[in-house]
Amino acid sequence: MTGRNDEAPARRTIRSFVRRAGRITPSQERALDELWPDYGVDYDESLIDFDELFKRTAPVVVEIGFGNGESLVELAAANPDQDFLGIEVHEPGVGHCLLKAKDAGIQNLKVVAHDAVDVLTNQVPADSLARVNLYFPDPWPKKRHHKRRIVQSDFVDLIANKLADGGTLNVATDWANYAEHIDEVLSRSDRFTCIETREHAGDQPFERPQTKFERRGLRRGHEISDRCFEKVVNSC
Ligand SMILES: C[S@@+](CC[C@H](N)C(=O)[O-])C[C@H]1O[C@@H](n2cnc3c(N)ncnc32)[C@H](O)[C@@H]1O
Repeated sequence: MTGRNDEAPARRTIRSFVRRAGRITPSQERALDELWPDYGVDYDESLIDFDELFKRTAPVVVEIGFGNGESLVELAAANPDQDFLGIEVHEPGVGHCLLKAKDAGIQNLKVVAHDAVDVLTNQVPADSLARVNLYFPDPWPKKRHHKRRIVQSDFVDLIANKLADGGTLNVATDWANYAEHIDEVLSRSDRFTCIETREHAGDQPFERPQTKFERRGLRRGHEISDRCFEKVVNSC
């Protein structure tokens, strides 16, 4: 990893997650120790050189908040011509993802165990990503918590800065009110244009596998919303 990002942001106080106490299993703990050298990227404030990290030049896809990583590993295995960087704060989920990645024998996946906003701001070079996936972000359903939702104008600008021209932000949620919020925030941005809108019953995911939280939403009778927003070429 090389280079330093000088655009350090002001300290943030509102985060999109609370650290869950969730128990880590011995095998997840072992995976974090033993498999981290193969799949882990430590968080620091140096820009990642993706060609060096993946030992080739290929389109890079970032997934924010991959949960237990099962759908991320499935997507990486199905797209060997792309490189995947997963970002998740929940350690048991990261451990689970490492185990799944090893079982699948994939080479095109790395993970960072840190707040995705910090990682994107400080470690991901400008215009470097082909795609950002945000699947079933924490919905923060209570109105007084809406400010914790990760999709906000600043976040949208951050994603636009990191995507290459024509790159996409792919979002899915099972909360109708969050889908409305996403549409509203993105419609205010002149940096993206919406190229796909789907409402479905879990049967039409847009270019992604079904996820654990999607199944949870479906069990509760929720409808699924998928969106794909393309970065406007030459946006500033
Ligand atoms: C509702 S879960 C969805 C997990 C997975 N994408 C799925 O669909 O099964 C949201 C996940 O996002 C993670 N998360 C929330 N904010 C995050 C952030 N700023 N950076 C990294 N991960 C985050 C949480 O820890 C949680 O695992």
